[in-house]
Amino acid sequence: MLNFGRSRTQPRSNRSLSLGGMDYSDPKKKNNVVGKFILAATLTALCIIMLKQSPAFSAPSQFGVREPGVTHVLVTGGAGYIGSHATLRLLKDNYRVTIVDNLSRGNLGAVRVLQELFPEPGRLQFIYADLGDPKAVNKIFSENAFDAVMHFAAVAYVGESTVDPLKYYHNITSNTLTLIEAMAAHRVKKLIYSSTCATYGEPDKMPITEETPQVPINPYGKAKKMAEDIIKDFSKNSKMAVMILRYFNVIGSDPEGRLGEAPRPELREQGRISGACFDAARGIIPGLKVRGTDYATDDGTCVRDYIDVTDLVDAHVKALAKAKAGKVGIYNVGTGKGRSVKEFVEACKKATGVTIKVDYLDRRPGDYAKVFSDPTKINKELNWTAQYTDLEKSLKVAWRWQKSHLNGYENS
Ligand SMILES: NC(=O)c1ccc[n+]([C@@H]2O[C@H](COP(=O)([O-])OP(=O)(O)OC[C@H]3O[C@@H](n4cnc5c(N)ncnc54)[C@H](O)[C@@H]3O)[C@@H](O)[C@H]2O)c1
Repeated sequence: MLNFGRSRTQPRSNRSLSLGGMDYSDPKKKNNVVGKFILAATLTALCIIMLKQSPAFSAPSQFGVREPGVTHVLVTGGAGYIGSHATLRLLKDNYRVTIVDNLSRGNLGAVRVLQELFPEPGRLQFIYADLGDPKAVNKIFSENAFDAVMHFAAVAYVGESTVDPLKYYHNITSNTLTLIEAMAAHRVKKLIYSSTCATYGEPDKMPITEETPQVPINPYGKAKKMAEDIIKDFSKNSKMAVMILRYFNVIGSDPEGRLGEAPRPELREQGRISGACFDAARGIIPGLKVRGTDYATDDGTCVRDYIDVTDLVDAHVKALAKAKAGKVGIYNVGTGKGRSVKEFVEACKKATGVTIKVDYLDRRPGDYAKVFSDPTKINKELNWTAQYTDLEKSLKVAWRWQKSHLNGYENS
């Protein structure tokens, strides 16, 4: 370590004496002083060189300064399924993006794909951090000049939330609070929040509009609704522009085959229907387990509204463009069309060309019979309509990625 403090190896009496305004110093000591001066100057020069080379002293990163005409978006959970697709779209549209992800569920491989596509300086940076750590979150906000936040990061499995509810309240509700506090402290003006149709629970009336009462019936939906409530309350006395997007069931992947859905193998059991279909088609699991055949639907299996991820990220970009200061926009993002699990399985068989074995089992706790959206509001106000509404085609695109990435992103 370099010591910048002046050390006194000689007693004061040995130093040059000033008598009556005149210096009487001995020449040996004069040489000593010159030597010390040269040493000090050399050390100072060395320190300056070292400091200049250290990142803290170098020119501020492009991510840390506002640039006219450049919108810098923080994408939390950008290593995950939807967040990575949103990042791709934002980069294509010339946004500057910072991904923050703790990789608990996402894939560094997805980030690498994005970095290879957009290697230019100032386009994309990845920060490995946990949103549950307020100090880390604050540091990120103080070192980066964000214009907007798209908050995707979350644990997101209904079944898991019924087994481990506290994890969901921490990860979804509490982390959203931390994020908003950091946004407010650092005057970040726009938030696009990933919410879910699970906040509605199981309404009597279909389709679901944004006015449908939110009565969630599982901890995942409850945690998301609480996060929405926090955001809405905060917005009452804030100029932040907020868009809350309530997604229905997300499927599909990048039509150009660069990104896909690659959940951790240990989460397969919790997984979503498309993942399970592909695993069954690949023979990773013996077949599909359809849970519940006695729901009040046409064929007894659950009905859902499947929205393609390409359409979903398009809704985000439109929401970002139309977000207004001091206002909260709330939108359902769905096709408006309900499809049964049986229909989905048939589409998956056609998309993969594999005869998938299907077992019909009892209901799973926390599931609801019928859920589909009324997308009128988002159609009108954001000029957004789902384009990729052919289930079989969406599944074909996703299947192509699955087949060429048998180990997820590990072999990409
Ligand atoms: N996939 C769907 O069908 C669906 C439907 C409705 C809403 N959503 C919402 O969309 C968002 C994204 O979902 P997804 O399907 O892409 O999930 P995902 O698991 O693929 O991605 C979530 C990402 O968040 C990261 N993450 C989780 N906790 C974090 C933390 N504490 N700090 C930093 N990073 C963290 C994970 O590592 C992962 O990369 C979630 O908020 C989810 O609730 C998803």
